[in-house]
Amino acid sequence: MRKDFLTLLDLTAQELNDIIDRAFEYKAGKAAPACPLLGKSIGIYFEKASTRTRISFQTGIYELGAHAIYINPNELQLGRGETIEDTARVLSRYLHGFVMRTFAHEKLESFAHNATIPVINGLTDLHHPCQALADLMTIKEKKGRLKDIHIVYVGDGNNVANSLIEAAVLTGINLVLACPRGYEADDNVYKNALSGGANVTIVADPVKAMKGADVVYTDVWISMGQDEGAEKKKKAFKSYQLNKKLLSHAKTDAIIMHCLPAHRGEEITDEIIDSACSVVLDQAENRLHTQKALLEVIIK
Ligand code: CP
Ligand code: NVA
Repeated sequence: MRKDFLTLLDLTAQELNDIIDRAFEYKAGKAAPACPLLGKSIGIYFEKASTRTRISFQTGIYELGAHAIYINPNELQLGRGETIEDTARVLSRYLHGFVMRTFAHEKLESFAHNATIPVINGLTDLHHPCQALADLMTIKEKKGRLKDIHIVYVGDGNNVANSLIEAAVLTGINLVLACPRGYEADDNVYKNALSGGANVTIVADPVKAMKGADVVYTDVWISMGQDEGAEKKKKAFKSYQLNKKLLSHAKTDAIIMHCLPAHRGEEITDEIIDSACSVVLDQAENRLHTQKALLEVIIK
């Protein structure tokens, strides 16, 4: 197991599988009652808002017997010019792990490189691997397997989309991303996945993309910190809204996924996100179980 979890590809296919299996045990209440992380302290550092990631990590850390220290970036000397490298070196002397949500992925990499403790990506502009863990668990829970499951992601080629692309490398899911031109997923992540043998396609037509979908996934059109040009972007995304009409082109038993928070009425309608085929709340719950399984293996 690598020291850090910065992108999904920091895991092998076997490690990913084991984490998902263990998460099912946690969900079923079957995991051993002992506290595997007793006496440890884990820093939780968030430069962006969070409801699910922060609270599920704090709760999960407590449930594993460890102590979560929430760190407000404005209260660190980092905000007064101390370097990210020195911050990482110093915090490694106190803590046993660090969860970080930030903007530039390079900042997370720089922190991880200088830290001697495991660092977990709680979301960057480029990746959201903890979300992908819960997404995969949810698909397995609802569809019984991952291999050959056909996922259609419709919308912005953002951090969530990039992590789903990496999921395709490790699991054998088929992934089609329908993104407006100019808003596709990260080119390096995509090319790397193709060279890793993943079954991933990026297309522009959301209607054609829906064909054969077992899972239909969407996310916000405007991610955190990316408000510039938002109005123009929303216009380009108009025909990418996940509504009843678009969904009618997917399989009749397709499930609906969204990492949340949703901008209801923009990328998804109330009717669809609140429908019987929507699994968004299970998906949110599974953040807790998968992150506990991850922490259990990554924190030494
Ligand atoms: N899905 C997700 O990461 O949600 P938060 O931004 O609320 O953590
Ligand atoms: N793409 C979204 C995900 C939020 C969990 C964002 O980065 O804001």
